[in-house]
Amino acid sequence: ERGEYRHYMLKEIHEQPVAVADTLEGRLLDGQILTGIFGPQAVQLLKQTEAVQFVACGSSYHASMVAKYWIEALARIPVSVEIASEYRYRDPVVPKNTLLVTVSQSGETADTLAALRMAKSLGYLAELAICNVPESSLVRESALCLMTRAGPEIGVASTKAFVTQLTALLLLALELGRQHGLDATRYRDGVTQLEHLPQAVADALKLDPEIRVLAERFASKHHALFLGRGRQFPIAMEGALKLKEISYIHAEAYPAGELKHGPLALVDEDMPVIAVAPNDHLLEKLKSNIEEVRARGGQLIVFADKSVSRGITHPQETLLELEPCGELIAPIVFTIPLQLLSYHVAVLKGTDVDQPRNLAKSVTVE
Ligand code: M6R
Repeated sequence: ERGEYRHYMLKEIHEQPVAVADTLEGRLLDGQILTGIFGPQAVQLLKQTEAVQFVACGSSYHASMVAKYWIEALARIPVSVEIASEYRYRDPVVPKNTLLVTVSQSGETADTLAALRMAKSLGYLAELAICNVPESSLVRESALCLMTRAGPEIGVASTKAFVTQLTALLLLALELGRQHGLDATRYRDGVTQLEHLPQAVADALKLDPEIRVLAERFASKHHALFLGRGRQFPIAMEGALKLKEISYIHAEAYPAGELKHGPLALVDEDMPVIAVAPNDHLLEKLKSNIEEVRARGGQLIVFADKSVSRGITHPQETLLELEPCGELIAPIVFTIPLQLLSYHVAVLKGTDVDQPRNLAKSVTVE
């Protein structure tokens, strides 16, 4: 039931603090991740893991891309991420003791399932599914699983499914870290950040009224550029996908450092450029990319961590400030305002928010 909400998508966006808390429920205790949450033999298998291969589609692919940054930083294990429809038609080389991880809300996406089935003959250490539907084919056919607990998602655009996937993936990254020599202080700090996540997501939702006003400037646009660096690059991709799929505005995401390699040519007074600026070690680099956009007259919209936002924008530009949050959870928190932006733009444009043209909730045929 939509209840007081105008669309399922808006309801699902607002359910995220609870969906995240549900996904963490019974999985953390006394500052630790409970062992065995990935399945009975998982402790041993995760210890043996020497590489990770992610396979997924759409938003689930973007979530997997964030996981690459987390796992490589926390567990020092090499990670590859690939779109399922590409992976399944390649002839992949699988290094010894590689864990295959599929990520899917529905667990019925044709390409992801086909990739899993094909991978079974390639000698992976084990298959782990991160999925939202317990009785799905993906879960039934995987040795290990970690369920997201987003509850049913009706809107075609992935919102609470994506955010709970990221939550589950951060649990996986920290658990792999713990088993592969992550320093105890960093591990505990990671768990503390996760414990704070439901509140951080709730705080981000408070930007809704400001974003509604900002959306008015977008409704007449035909293009938009999303920029991020590091873990926020996949979040920029997710922001661009959301805007495309529900408001039909052409949007592209770039790692901010790529601007000079081509996309800067697109920037003029008519081009909105959205940058995500958390408080991390890449902030200074991002600031110089923002300067490059400014110099070409692009319309800058910056989502920034409040503690570092000073001077990041000029008076005629738009700054939206998020409450300070830990570096690990920042990609999850910065997703929220981008969801709200695409939602409000779509409402202003009068598109069918929950059921965008030409799209289905799960892509069960190739
Ligand atoms: O059910 P899945 O997570 O496997 O679905 C994957 C994609 O089809 C899905 O994320 C799609 O990209 C969404 N419409 C994005 O909002």
